[in-house]
Amino acid sequence: MQSLLFLASLAAAAYAQINLTSCNATDLACIVNRTLADQALLETPNYVTVPIEDDPFYSTPSNFSAQDAQPGQILKIEAHSNISSYAIPPGQSLSRIMYTSVDEKGSVVPATAAILWPFTPKPFNNSSPNTYPLVAWAHGTSGVFRQCAVSNMRNLQYDFRSVFTLASVGYAVVIADYVGLGTDQPFSYLAYKLHANDVVYAVQASQSAFPQLSAEWVSFGHSEGGGVAWAIGERQAVAEIALPGFLGTIAAAPPPFPIANTAPVGHSVFVAFLSFTIAHLYGLNLTEIFNPVPLQALQRVRDISGCNDAGYAALATFSADDIYANTSWPLSQPARDFAKDYSVSGRPLGGPMLIIQGENDTVVGTAGAQAGFNATCSLAGLNGSGNETAALSVEYVSVRGQDHNPSLYASQRLWLQWIEDRFNGLPTARSGCWRTELGPGSNTNVDSDSQGGNAAAQVQLPERFVVQYSRPWVTIFSSTFLPLRLQAENSGFVDPPSGA
Ligand SMILES: *[C@@H]1O[C@H](CO)[C@@H](O)[C@H](O)[C@H]1NC(C)=O
Ligand SMILES: *[C@@H]1O[C@H](CO)[C@@H](O)[C@H](O)[C@H]1NC(C)=O
Ligand SMILES: *[C@@H]1O[C@H](CO)[C@@H](O)[C@H](O)[C@H]1NC(C)=O
Ligand SMILES: *[C@@H]1O[C@H](CO)[C@@H](O)[C@H](O)[C@H]1NC(C)=O
Ligand SMILES: *[C@@H]1O[C@H](CO)[C@@H](O)[C@H](O)[C@H]1NC(C)=O
Ligand SMILES: *[C@@H]1O[C@H](CO)[C@@H](O)[C@H](O)[C@H]1NC(C)=O
Ligand SMILES: *[C@@H]1O[C@H](CO)[C@@H](O)[C@H](O)[C@H]1NC(C)=O
Ligand SMILES: *[C@@H]1O[C@H](CO)[C@@H](O)[C@H](O)[C@H]1NC(C)=O
Ligand SMILES: *[C@@H]1O[C@H](CO)[C@@H](O)[C@H](O)[C@H]1NC(C)=O
Ligand SMILES: *[C@@H]1O[C@H](CO)[C@@H](O)[C@H](O)[C@H]1NC(C)=O
Ligand SMILES: *[C@@H]1O[C@H](CO)[C@@H](O)[C@H](O)[C@H]1NC(C)=O
Ligand SMILES: *[C@@H]1O[C@H](CO)[C@@H](O)[C@H](O)[C@H]1NC(C)=O
Repeated sequence: MQSLLFLASLAAAAYAQINLTSCNATDLACIVNRTLADQALLETPNYVTVPIEDDPFYSTPSNFSAQDAQPGQILKIEAHSNISSYAIPPGQSLSRIMYTSVDEKGSVVPATAAILWPFTPKPFNNSSPNTYPLVAWAHGTSGVFRQCAVSNMRNLQYDFRSVFTLASVGYAVVIADYVGLGTDQPFSYLAYKLHANDVVYAVQASQSAFPQLSAEWVSFGHSEGGGVAWAIGERQAVAEIALPGFLGTIAAAPPPFPIANTAPVGHSVFVAFLSFTIAHLYGLNLTEIFNPVPLQALQRVRDISGCNDAGYAALATFSADDIYANTSWPLSQPARDFAKDYSVSGRPLGGPMLIIQGENDTVVGTAGAQAGFNATCSLAGLNGSGNETAALSVEYVSVRGQDHNPSLYASQRLWLQWIEDRFNGLPTARSGCWRTELGPGSNTNVDSDSQGGNAAAQVQLPERFVVQYSRPWVTIFSSTFLPLRLQAENSGFVDPPSGA
């Protein structure tokens, strides 16, 4: 049950990072100062609207009534979003919807989603030229407050790592903001099965609003969203709530176990953020576990509409002892209950699952995905040694040498083919559970051949292109190499905008 690693370096790996002013952990003014500076430089420019409350799209209609509503219902349709505020590729277009999902109590709650449309749809089975094959995207950590909705991000958070690529080859991509990101609801970070509700109901609502979307759908997620994609597979095994048309799910870099119940806890801001969710869902007392100033700092992050980078700036230079009064809080009953109720794996699946895991993922690590794979495969009919007669298929692909985000680029051909094969109604390569290794020049079945070689040493490992943002908003993806000092840090840097 190891999983904290993925939280520890998330900000550094996925997002830009600046040198932070050194602050004493008891000096709130200093911490707020550096948080605001980081937010202004690295975070605010990538949001369409700050604060998000200023965009009326995200406000719940006054006539919404949880008692009268059914999950999967449409509340608002913005068929043609103003794409001049977004950095989406030429030819693509965007819609946004507000719809209903359900929360941890089973109450109907408002949620939002974006739909990224291709210029022309990818045809399947001589389908009508106006049928758009649907991929449901489950996003990774974007932050834990309302502001951090990915439908409000100019690059929809994942740009060419996934969503732009999918739309470029002809899929319509339904991108759910998990409840609480976007709408005025509490957000339950890493509560995969709740986010799975949000994604599946987004598919259902999108299909009702846009009949050109295909009835068949594939789900696909990365990082936090990898856990969500796994939870969608498990949800689809429950006949009463399964949505028809499910063709399978791709869990990339999934952390099946959202918290390790071990002590002492580390200093990751994402674990600190998770404590807010555990407080909300299970009554963890934040006043008892935090030192006063770090808790106030995180509350300020919320109040200033901060997301990943602002949170990172708040706590990044502190030790766990600086942050917490009790570094054993993951052993508490609320934290144990959260881990028990919200981990995925070890349950049946409603369709085939592809797990894609970078061999050298420094953000989520590989142990969690492997333990989850083992747990799911120990179920009858999904034997870990490969069961040729099993009804289901779970393939674990290790992407040789690659880190958290790079593994999505390196495996792009594989996941695009997998999605295409599902829409073509093809069987998976095998049934039961099996492992393969994806490496340069070979795609070796490690069950029978573990001769990996060291070819990965010959290929590019980090993301070395600069994603440059400037005014007016232009996103330039180039192969320009980063300055040597940033290459050395090997952390997918985004250079701060010059003069922005
Ligand atoms: C951060 O600080 C280090 C050491 O003080 C310095 O070498 C580096 O250039 C700084 N980086 C940035 C992005 O300012
Ligand atoms: C932080 O401030 C406190 C209270 O002013 C002080 O006792 C402590 O020594 C300071 N810590 C550091 C590392 O300067
Ligand atoms: C906040 O930052 C400004 C300049 O960026 C600086 O002048 C001021 O002293 C800082 N305040 C604190 C409390 O650190
Ligand atoms: C809420 O109001 C909108 C228009 O203002 C209307 O289209 C919608 O049907 C109403 N919904 C309910 C549940 O009454
Ligand atoms: C779209 O957004 C741009 C930039 O915010 C704005 O200038 C323009 O007026 C908007 N167009 C419409 C039709 O609202
Ligand atoms: C949380 O703990 C603090 C300090 O022990 C206590 O004063 C407060 O009442 C507790 N809050 C709740 C909601 O139990
Ligand atoms: C810290 O939290 C753990 C887990 O809830 C608890 O067992 C322990 O008593 C707490 N320690 C203190 C000093 O409160
Ligand atoms: C990647 O991980 C493998 C297996 O743990 C290890 O042998 C290899 O040295 C790592 N490669 C890099 C570039 O860190
Ligand atoms: C998963 O199972 C394999 C094969 O039984 C075993 O070698 C490996 O240690 C297990 N990994 C974890 C993380 O449980
Ligand atoms: C898988 O099946 C083999 C032989 O059928 C059996 O020996 C093994 O214990 C099974 N493994 C699991 C994890 O169920
Ligand atoms: C293989 O899968 C079939 C069909 O689901 C199941 O009946 C059988 O028990 C499985 N065999 C093993 C060894 O798990
Ligand atoms: C395409 O046809 C195959 C074979 O009839 C079927 O299994 C599959 O579901 C169809 N796909 C779509 C997207 O209609």
